[in-house]
Amino acid sequence: MSSEWNAGWPEWPVCRFDELANPGAKGFFVGDGEWPFRGFVVRKDQEIFAYANVCPHQRHPLDSLPDVFLTDDGETIRCSSHGALFHLESGLCLFGPCVGHSLMNLESRIGFDRIVMDTAPASLRDAGEIIGSGFDTA
Ligand code: FES
Repeated sequence: MSSEWNAGWPEWPVCRFDELANPGAKGFFVGDGEWPFRGFVVRKDQEIFAYANVCPHQRHPLDSLPDVFLTDDGETIRCSSHGALFHLESGLCLFGPCVGHSLMNLESRIGFDRIVMDTAPASLRDAGEIIGSGFDTA
């Protein structure tokens, strides 16, 4: 979770903090059409990290099954395509075909009512409602 929240960027609710296993992860996407912006949030203890769901190797989404982003022990993020492993807190690739490259970090925070909020520069995605997280803010 970033300590410098950029209030100038649009933000989206992803899920309630207590919906996330510890450790756990949840994907989301913003926008419609064939190429919505895809991201995911990761919880470790009381911290939240968020990344674009794009592997630096061949730009595949990391999860072949919805919301399966972590290794079985919950210690690292895994790309399901070719097995790259990423440091959970930094997104740095530790093993696999893109060692030394990093996932794109997104700004995230825990907002009012313990809802995980995520944001990114508007240049990365069109403003709109998150679809696909299954989270209803109504
Ligand atoms: S696309 Fe992720 S490891 Fe190849």
